[in-house]
Amino acid sequence: MLAYDLIGSGLIALGALSIATMRVGAVWGVSARGQTISAQAAASEGAPIRDGDRQYHQHSDASVVELEGNMGPRLIIVSNRVAVPEPGNRQMAGGLVVAVKAALRNRTGVWFGWSGKIDETETVEPRIVEHNHITYAVIDLSKNDFEEYYNGLANRVLWPILHYRVDLQEYSRADHSGYMRVNRQFADKLSAFLREDDVVWVHDYHLMPLARELRARGHLNPIGFFLHIPCAPLDILRTLPHHDEILGALTYYDLVGFQTENDRDNFAAYLLAMPGAKKGRGLTFEVEGRQTRIGAFPVSIETATYARLARNAARSPFAKEMTESLTGLRLVLGVDRLDYSKGIIQRINGFNRFLEDNPEWRSHVTLLQITPRSRSDIKDYAAIENEVTTLISRVNGRYGEASWTPIRYVNRSHSRAALAGIYRAANVALVTPLRDGMNLVAKEYVAAQDPENPGVLVLSQFAGAAAELTGALIVNPHESDAVAAALKRALGMPLSERRERHGPMLQHLLVHNIELWAADYLAALAETRQRPSLVSDLLAFLGPSRSSADRWAIPDARRQA
Ligand code: G6P
Repeated sequence: MLAYDLIGSGLIALGALSIATMRVGAVWGVSARGQTISAQAAASEGAPIRDGDRQYHQHSDASVVELEGNMGPRLIIVSNRVAVPEPGNRQMAGGLVVAVKAALRNRTGVWFGWSGKIDETETVEPRIVEHNHITYAVIDLSKNDFEEYYNGLANRVLWPILHYRVDLQEYSRADHSGYMRVNRQFADKLSAFLREDDVVWVHDYHLMPLARELRARGHLNPIGFFLHIPCAPLDILRTLPHHDEILGALTYYDLVGFQTENDRDNFAAYLLAMPGAKKGRGLTFEVEGRQTRIGAFPVSIETATYARLARNAARSPFAKEMTESLTGLRLVLGVDRLDYSKGIIQRINGFNRFLEDNPEWRSHVTLLQITPRSRSDIKDYAAIENEVTTLISRVNGRYGEASWTPIRYVNRSHSRAALAGIYRAANVALVTPLRDGMNLVAKEYVAAQDPENPGVLVLSQFAGAAAELTGALIVNPHESDAVAAALKRALGMPLSERRERHGPMLQHLLVHNIELWAADYLAALAETRQRPSLVSDLLAFLGPSRSSADRWAIPDARRQA
């Protein structure tokens, strides 16, 4: 799951809803020979400029991005990270990009978010890239926005709290303010091209207040939210200073989706503790007159496609070279973004214990740990990197021999195909997060196996995937002895038991695939609409005395007819 080529994604339609083909207005920026040209020069050519199979667009009128199209509702996906297929873009890690890309395949719509670039010049409108029927609309962030919104509130505060790591949060009012400011910027840019019948689907913790900002700008559209990471219990959520402004803002969405029932129930407890909140029918809650529905929608993968990819990848020169390099060693695999939530330290401790307790396995097994670096500006990420490298050297120093390295550690990312080949070659996958929303590595590992001779998944009980992948060996990653014992059992497991465990998991994933996830979520969103009076209520609430200069305020609504 960690690294993907950026080609070949598509946007998903809403099961029941049809999505119009989009036409983008004028053009800019990149000539047919790939040279950068001015917006005016591009506009004067009067037609989209192609660069290979890509098109780069920007509206000639700097005041507005006009994404034209007049046939029915469009699906507008919004997330902080957008996997724009541009030359030179780094391959991206993480479950969100994987899920959204797969969910949008072969469909048409818009994916809006951050370009991944930092630029001090304020961009008036998003940059538009079209590829494979997807329209990507991206904006840059300033250094200050990146620091306060992304590194700050999103990743130094919300990420640790939602992963139950209250001890790691570093809240500051400046970061809170920056988070709100960037959410307002997102709303302003989106607002310029939203049409009445668009369906908006917002993803992840970076953008919790976005629906409130869009409502304040007069948009009555169905707006859904999906949290890709865990939702902690009430007492933990309340450690977030001013949590009502951020978590409470989720009540401006029509539907708030979570990975598991446990996450959903944690948020239900939070909602019920909000002053004036009432439980309505089923999973609907009413807060200050707004109705919001919550639900569990476990994210998944393109199971059949992934299985095919792995089958083919196993025959690739890369996979052959990798397998030959093993010289008959059994392969245990760990694949994670370098993040303290992933339990990499606990996994290595478990592997260390396994080697200690089972000398007969030394020189017969190797752990390949693939771990692209992540969020390296944040000190906790630098710290985990130091800890991991020190621990790995210690284990390799203690047990290694001139002809055998116990742990191979790789920071570079791999293409989707290469990774699928590695999954298929691995006898055991060790997936040991301390807390994880879902963990798509676990699902991809299952899909990548040869059903006739499958490997064994060792999975943390704290990954969302543990609720579904019941054929895995489930472990508590905090207990090294348990990880070591599971590893021993996995390596010695007879073929019949491996098949018995793997078969039902694969069947489950073939049905509960990414397509079903998106269709279920969007069908639920289509059923759930905010009351039409919501926007007028909100405008009345904001009143003339609240100005956008107030750092805690929702900005003045851009009243629309
Ligand atoms: C997780 C989050 C995503 C995020 C990804 C990569 O999967 O749920 O929202 O995009 O990690 O992290 P990054 O900070 O590089 O976007």
